[in-house]
Amino acid sequence: MEGRKRIFSGIQPSGNITIGNYIGALKNWIELQDDYDCIYCVVDMHAITVKQDASVLRKRSLDALALLLACGVEPEKSILFIQSHVPEHAMLNWALCCKTYIGELQRMTQFKDKSVRHADNINAGLFTYPVLMAADILLYQAELVPVGEDQKQHVELTRDLCLRFNKTYGETFAMPEPLIPKTGARIMSLQEPQRKMSKSDPNPNAYINVLDEPQDIERKLKRAVTDCEGLIAYDPQNRAGVSNLLEIYSAMRNIPVERSVELFSGLGYGELKAETAKAVIERFAPIRERYRELTSDRKRLLIIAEDGADKAKRIAQKTIAKVYHKLGFDSK
Ligand code: TYM
Repeated sequence: MEGRKRIFSGIQPSGNITIGNYIGALKNWIELQDDYDCIYCVVDMHAITVKQDASVLRKRSLDALALLLACGVEPEKSILFIQSHVPEHAMLNWALCCKTYIGELQRMTQFKDKSVRHADNINAGLFTYPVLMAADILLYQAELVPVGEDQKQHVELTRDLCLRFNKTYGETFAMPEPLIPKTGARIMSLQEPQRKMSKSDPNPNAYINVLDEPQDIERKLKRAVTDCEGLIAYDPQNRAGVSNLLEIYSAMRNIPVERSVELFSGLGYGELKAETAKAVIERFAPIRERYRELTSDRKRLLIIAEDGADKAKRIAQKTIAKVYHKLGFDSK
């Protein structure tokens, strides 16, 4: 719709979509749909920076699309598509790679972390990953990018590239800004609450998946690491475990953390864990149900993906035409 700000965000199609992804990003994606022009993307091209099996990736991409629909992304309101279906992402990626300095990419903390975890496969794509992410955002002239805290540095690089390109070639891209939630921008591991919750954690008790069965959610929260102070307080630095549970509870109930602290004051960790489990189960049960229905009809999912890609392409092609002209790639 004319006059509304444009939003872009993406998620990788990994087998597990966690409560961290949900609270840090997806929950906001859903809430923003009524007031913004939203474009949401399953970023399968980003996924191949680590080893993938083609048939598994193909299935996971469509499953991720189904999960986004189940969470509440509405294709009538927002554009929902799979990244590789719109080749303009790769085209802009190359143009921006030639405007990005190696030193800028060397500073990216996620690259440093992933190089340690995938030491046998430190490929060039892993290194230039943030440029592809910048291309995703700039391609759609997005002004707001709802993400969790861990993606902030990438959006900042996107802003630098936007400014550099616009300065050199004249106004080409809209300047994006990260939109990071006040509560739950960094959901922590349930087992090691000093570390970010990650879907690739080898210990499945460290994270909750949106599609987990209720008894698993209950068990994982019951076992969540807290501390021995026995007092409910919000202090992420010194009381990471309890603070994390309070953030999860608050996000699930849509209330500020201070309100949750009040609600649980004088109660024990057992009650906090049980109530958090109840809130998570209530939120995720209908999503799991809708996901089952949606994944039983792959044809319909493919039609939704194709329709989304068509809409995305219309916007992406306009940006690429502008960029190619400025770079001297067209003969006009
Ligand atoms: P990805 O797939 O790792 O995560 C998807 C979203 O979930 C957020 N998130 C979290 N939020 C809070 N606590 C956590 N523990 C947590 N873990 C993940 C992430 O911040 C993210 O918002 N590079 C991106 C995908 C991407 C993208 C883009 C995002 C590609 N192109 C363009 C925005 C715009 C990624 O790997 O997200």
